[in-house]
Amino acid sequence: MGSTAAASALPASAGSGENLVVILDYGSQYTHLITRRVRQLGVLSLCVSGTAPLAALEGLRPRAIVLSGGPHSVHAKGAPTFPEGFLDFADGAGAHVLGVCYGMQLLVQSLGGAVEPGERQEYGKMDVEVTAPSSALYGEAGTEKRQTVWMSHGDEVVRLPEGFEVVARSVQGAVAAIENREKRFYGFQYHPEVTHSPQGMETLRRFLFDVCGIRADWKMQDVLDEEIKTIQSMVGTDEHVICALSGGVDSTVAATLVHKAIGDRLHCVFVDNGLLRYKERERVMSTFESDLHLPVTCVDASEQFLSKLKGVEDPEQKRKIIGREFIAVFDDFAHKLEQKIGKRPEYLVQGTLYPDVIESCPPPGSGRTHSHTIKSHHNVGGLPKDMKLKLIEPLKLLFKDEVRKLGSILNVPDSFLKRHPFPGPGLAVRVLGDVTQGNALDTLRQVDEIFVQAIKDAGLYDKIWQAFAVFLPVQTVGVQGDQRTHSNAVVLRAITSEDGMTADWYYFGHEFLVEVVNKICNNVRGINRVCQDITSKPPATVEWE
Ligand code: XMP
Repeated sequence: MGSTAAASALPASAGSGENLVVILDYGSQYTHLITRRVRQLGVLSLCVSGTAPLAALEGLRPRAIVLSGGPHSVHAKGAPTFPEGFLDFADGAGAHVLGVCYGMQLLVQSLGGAVEPGERQEYGKMDVEVTAPSSALYGEAGTEKRQTVWMSHGDEVVRLPEGFEVVARSVQGAVAAIENREKRFYGFQYHPEVTHSPQGMETLRRFLFDVCGIRADWKMQDVLDEEIKTIQSMVGTDEHVICALSGGVDSTVAATLVHKAIGDRLHCVFVDNGLLRYKERERVMSTFESDLHLPVTCVDASEQFLSKLKGVEDPEQKRKIIGREFIAVFDDFAHKLEQKIGKRPEYLVQGTLYPDVIESCPPPGSGRTHSHTIKSHHNVGGLPKDMKLKLIEPLKLLFKDEVRKLGSILNVPDSFLKRHPFPGPGLAVRVLGDVTQGNALDTLRQVDEIFVQAIKDAGLYDKIWQAFAVFLPVQTVGVQGDQRTHSNAVVLRAITSEDGMTADWYYFGHEFLVEVVNKICNNVRGINRVCQDITSKPPATVEWE
């Protein structure tokens, strides 16, 4: 995130930054997790690329700065480091600096200590012992002296910079935590943010509240109130706003929030592209209208989409066509709206989330500078550039779990907030090959509904990140009611995941699967074979395409 974006995104509750934590990202897979953990403790935290210019921090003036872990060695050519003048800036601003893993090594090396390839490479669970009788990071004697933590390091600190002391060591003798209270520098060689460090949350709590003196003043209700005020002051009293609702959590919560701010000057459109799930259109429209009272126009564009998709087998080609048609429908909606209200809508609501706007630290040697890490598949249904609409992105500082909390305050029904994710191109990525082949879409809808309903009935829905069926354009021989059949095969996929980036397949057990497979084969015409996908991500992806 660039400095301006970061500063302007700063909510009023963060004040001058006195209760703000900034995480400088050096590429660790846990950077987002630290950011979330701090927020779970009621403190606003923002993630900034570890090599962003100092100006990115100057606008924020955080009380604490966490230097994240990362996959690099401080000795590697081009290893990322904090911006020039950072240490003076932190000192002048009175900020507390906490280095985690790579971040600690970076701090030590920059201050004149020494980091070397370790004799002991410590990965995974490790016991550490608090060695100082009294320290800022662990407190007085009351803290348990020995705790299990999650380590992941090849290099280790072998000489401390002046003024530092070792306050914890691994049982193998490696430096595990350091501090220089006078200068407000601290470091952990382990990851307090992961659940494998059972006392990690308490350690972070202690660091934020006792060491840095930060107050836990970041509440979802305040976020909501501020967003509403911001939108009200941004959108003129005679201006109009449009929003495309996908039926997913993000766009629904974003629209509900904007609706609360400006009422029926918000105009939503929900597009039935013919690629929705079983009774999806009726179900989501009823939630929008009856529960949320959102002003929504439902456009049935299924014919338009499906005729363009006829005969198309290549998944990328399908995505492009869907994106194009979506733009055409949206454009038409905006045009008709302009004719109706006699005014061009000025703003567009988007449910962009924080992970989509955070800039990650690019790996050294990659030749990349900071770039927005928006996943290309989130651009499906992207909007026409010439629409000249100004964006309202009320969720752009929030993680998914925070959006769910916000939705809950806004009375978005729980059943809606907990829905499994659904890809923008819909069932087009779940019918392999031509989506218009035979009765493929309807067949898939029925199988998917039986599978997901069985999961709900078994009380498993909330334990699973995503569950769905895939239609294979493959026919196999079967025997049903003494008759030989030659019908299609479907695949059931259910995964657990934190964020969709990695995933494990879900183990149902024999009984559940037997029942589901029977139900599918007995009730869905044209299916005589059901498989389960038991591949994790990686090496597979979640969707099949
Ligand atoms: P993959 O298949 O990439 O999916 O492992 C990861 C997560 O992203 C969802 N997904 C999409 N979401 N538009 C979306 O909004 C898309 O085009 C899209 N493709 C995949 C997928 O369902 C999973 O949750």
